[in-house]
Amino acid sequence: MRSKPLLSLRDVHYVYPNGTPAIRGVSLDVLPGQRVALLGENGSGKTTLARLMVGLVRPSKGSVRLGDVDYETLTTHDIAREVGIVFQNPDHQIFLERVWDEVAFGPRNYGLSPAQVEERVGTALHEFDLWEDRYRLPVALSGGERKSVAFASSFALRPRVLLLDEPTKGMDYGRKRRLATMADRLTAEDRTVFFITHDVDFAYASTERAVVLRRGRVLLEGRTRDVLSRSDLADAGLHEATAPLLLATMRERGISPDSALYREVQRRVEAVS
Ligand SMILES: Nc1ncnc2c1ncn2[C@@H]1O[C@H](COP(=O)(O)OP(=O)(O)OP(=O)(O)O)[C@@H](O)[C@H]1O
Ligand SMILES: [Mg+2]
Repeated sequence: MRSKPLLSLRDVHYVYPNGTPAIRGVSLDVLPGQRVALLGENGSGKTTLARLMVGLVRPSKGSVRLGDVDYETLTTHDIAREVGIVFQNPDHQIFLERVWDEVAFGPRNYGLSPAQVEERVGTALHEFDLWEDRYRLPVALSGGERKSVAFASSFALRPRVLLLDEPTKGMDYGRKRRLATMADRLTAEDRTVFFITHDVDFAYASTERAVVLRRGRVLLEGRTRDVLSRSDLADAGLHEATAPLLLATMRERGISPDSALYREVQRRVEAVS
């Protein structure tokens, strides 16, 4: 049975106040328990779509629903309890003096008990390797560490849908893997995580569904493995992920998918992306 969508977008349009049409008729069902890559060239509308999904901007036309409830009847604060976002530059989402308080801010604000707050914050800090830094000033952390504080803060809130805008940019391999692990933990609880990214290899390795935007519309949508193996991705300003490209090249050169060499390359290349 197909699960009920967490969010449904129907023919959503958004025009910025200066007249720029950024989203031009997007319909999308956000299903529970999925890791979704939202891809597309610069200016294709990814961040604007994320703002619409968290209710920071409202559609110029069309509708967004949370379960059965239209966003029109919800405040941004109501939506924020269920749909979280970490922005492209999370520095302006960090404002408290200690890492621990920063991560505890949301859970405290949403009325969790002190014991629940302790548990949520401890788990989130360990998840992002920040436990040792818990008493440090966020401003005194490195860029990647500060981004991790923003991820830990959003993870501690356990939103039903979490949108991460360019989360892997500037992050080392270990922290990218931690992000993927966080997404696994959230999806295991039937929550959904969107990775807005230009990193096709990360998307290939860490998501099962991909949505590609072009000029404010959905150009491609489907299983990540299928979408990121398409040779016409260049039309959307993207390139194929390395793993399928390499494996396709081997097949074209006559190396059988059953051969030991093919299988070894497949195992190794899929493990690092
Ligand atoms: N505050 C704004 N006012 C007016 N137009 C905007 C504003 N923000 C974005 N736009 C325009 O809306 C369109 C979509 O922008 P958006 O930021 O959603 O793209 P994006 O896919 O996130 O790009 P990137 O990969 O560069 O982050 C672009 O044409 C952009 O110029
Ligand atoms: Mg953007």
